[in-house]
Amino acid sequence: MLILSVESSCDETAVAVVKDGREVLCDCIASQVELHRIYGGVVPEIASRKHIEAIYGLADQALAKANVTREDIDAIAVTYAPGLIGALLVGVNFAKAAALALDKPLIPVHHIRGHIAANYIAYPDLKPPFLCLVVSGGHTMLVDVKDYTEMEILGSTRDDAAGECFDKVARMLNMPYPGGAALDKAAKSGDEERYPLPSPKLSGNPLDMSFSGLKTAAVNLIHNTRQKGEEVAVSDLCAGFSKAVSRMLIPRTMMALDQTGYRTLAVAGGVAANSRIRADLTRECEKRGVRLCLPPLSLCGDNAAMIGAQGYYEYLSGNLADQTLNAYATKTLEGERL
Ligand code: KG4
Ligand code: ZN
Repeated sequence: MLILSVESSCDETAVAVVKDGREVLCDCIASQVELHRIYGGVVPEIASRKHIEAIYGLADQALAKANVTREDIDAIAVTYAPGLIGALLVGVNFAKAAALALDKPLIPVHHIRGHIAANYIAYPDLKPPFLCLVVSGGHTMLVDVKDYTEMEILGSTRDDAAGECFDKVARMLNMPYPGGAALDKAAKSGDEERYPLPSPKLSGNPLDMSFSGLKTAAVNLIHNTRQKGEEVAVSDLCAGFSKAVSRMLIPRTMMALDQTGYRTLAVAGGVAANSRIRADLTRECEKRGVRLCLPPLSLCGDNAAMIGAQGYYEYLSGNLADQTLNAYATKTLEGERL
């Protein structure tokens, strides 16, 4: 089954053609990152306009690259939630029009379910159930992937997402948006012990996480150092910060593995590209003999191939939409039928 998939939830317009949920025939991305960089973050209005400008050409390009025609496509999958509402609406309306014109089924895909499904592309033999650590710019959570379309959130951040904090601290250090990758690079040569950062204690669900206190501690440290007329040792702070984020994520992930009894851990979302987090997860999983699925960097960030992968399984579960499909800025991945 050939799915034409569309992703436009934030600042990447992406269209892919995916066969049977696992084989990517093409994965085209038009990134707007350079444009938003001058504002230090995504400007929603600009994102929507740029999606409109890019999407038609990108879809034609995707079909040509995959060497298929419109008639070869069996269904259209699209990210309908969560994300920037104007940005999502561009993809949803494009997909609705394509489904209507081609008389093909329309498959709504939750963006985070898509991130999780990036693992099906990277690991063709991977099948649920497994545990997934989702760490993106907007979400941080531990998900029990019971089946392809049946998921339960076991714990999540109570405040900011890990990616948001990486970006905020990087911005304070004058790194270009989105700063997560630059902060990661700087951390490699740093002394992680020079600036000790706090580990917040949380009551309630032991699998819940919190990053805002850590972010504030790092921001205050930068301010206070500068106010004293001193220079912040950038690499050292980046190393200490990455360590602190990892210390929030990894023990909870291991606890969730113990709790569920799963022997497979998948990781998803843009922050899964972080080298410190990847190294710590690799070490801990090796110690426990747990299989670790870490998608390549190209599949960690936003892309449409992951939407095509999840779209296939949503289709098999009968999760289809009609022309009344709407976009939603927020929606849980635990999901309900539309
Ligand atoms: O999943 P994603 O592409 O978009 C969302 O759905 O949010 O994640 C983007 C986030 C940004 O916050 C970006 O700074 C972060 O992923 N990121 C990283 C790294 N590469 C990307 N954070 C830390 N280390 C990295 N190497
Ligand atoms: Zn994403």
